[in-house]
Amino acid sequence: MADKQYRVIQWMTGDVGQVGVRHFADNPVYDLVGVLVHSKEKAGKDAGEIAGIAPVGVIATDDVDAMVALEADCVFYTPIIMDVDTVCRLLRSGKNVVTTAGFFHPSPDFRDPAELIRTACVEGGTSFHGGGIHPGYAGDILPLTLARVMSRVDTIHVYEVVDVLKDAPLDHIDWMGFGKDKDTFLSEPTILGLGLPFFAQSMHMIADGLGVTIDEVTAAEVGVATAVEDIAHDEGAIPKGTVAAQRHEWTAWVGGKPLIIFHAIYLTATPDRLEPPWDWGETRYEIVIDGDPPTELTLKGVRQPDGTMAHPGYDWTAMGAINAIPDVCDASPGWLNHLDLGLIRPRGLVRP
Ligand SMILES: NC(=O)c1ccc[n+]([C@@H]2O[C@H](COP(=O)([O-])OP(=O)(O)OC[C@H]3O[C@@H](n4cnc5c(N)ncnc54)[C@H](OP(=O)(O)O)[C@@H]3O)[C@@H](O)[C@H]2O)c1
Repeated sequence: MADKQYRVIQWMTGDVGQVGVRHFADNPVYDLVGVLVHSKEKAGKDAGEIAGIAPVGVIATDDVDAMVALEADCVFYTPIIMDVDTVCRLLRSGKNVVTTAGFFHPSPDFRDPAELIRTACVEGGTSFHGGGIHPGYAGDILPLTLARVMSRVDTIHVYEVVDVLKDAPLDHIDWMGFGKDKDTFLSEPTILGLGLPFFAQSMHMIADGLGVTIDEVTAAEVGVATAVEDIAHDEGAIPKGTVAAQRHEWTAWVGGKPLIIFHAIYLTATPDRLEPPWDWGETRYEIVIDGDPPTELTLKGVRQPDGTMAHPGYDWTAMGAINAIPDVCDASPGWLNHLDLGLIRPRGLVRP
């Protein structure tokens, strides 16, 4: 068991996929046998070069059929958006699929694709598993783990606080709508709001783990703080008076009462530069459970001696899924969510 090696294919090399390439190159538990890319510029390059490390001897290709035909134990599937047909093809081809791209708990929103995935697993004798940091860990595994030491749970709050200019790629400014007129922003769908079905999977996983059923998931009105002055960043500025922070709140109701409340808070400035002067502190995940005894847990990077603290969001996202690969490959076929896998055993993390 200790020496067992797993042949893996890295499917796309964005922020998460590059963590995969680096990890598979470094951890002898894995043998990277193929890398699929989307962009023409990356095709033909050594995967190590794409991921910013020494060559690994695997040349990236954009040939999907070649990758589907390649023998491997598992595909680490990290495209921008999951394509269920492709995932099913991979599963039917005899390769397990572990992903950060969307589905990880077969909640009511994903009943139909879940059925397709389950069928493909049976046909290919393979397994499917999704993970990440949030959704997929901070808002589901952590609350359930915390509940394990409590005697009564009343309300579970999960906070995701992100200092966008410090801890997220710059493209988040545009696609999250920072710099927009407040009324325009509030009249349009938000990218986080559109993601609610994905985050709701975490709520359903908590509920399943606690043995209760969610009646409905509701979204409160989005909150906004505007910039009191121009907020400069590397590619320009968020203009004075426009959206500089946003807060989303989603509630899962059980038995007519709020059981789980997710708070997503994205900020581009300190309180003195915001109206209202929101003060949510630094980037972190925080789980607060009201009950007996009231209990809380914070997940964040480690402050360095020079006072800086990096937020390893993409590393956590990739590793939350990758560390499950051995258990997923060794399990019986099917869609394996976190509850099915139980406490997973990461392999090869302790190495010289
Ligand atoms: N659950 C979580 O905690 C969590 C957190 C973060 C991200 N995610 C998910 O993980 C996945 C990967 O995230 P990421 O940040 O690595 O994404 P990303 O960097 O934005 O993009 C992933 C890759 O998708 C490929 N791609 C780009 N445009 C494409 C197109 N039009 N058609 C097909 N492929 C295209 C590109 O591959 P090449 O560059 O190789 O050409 C790109 O690098 C996403 O689905 C994301 O939502 C989950």
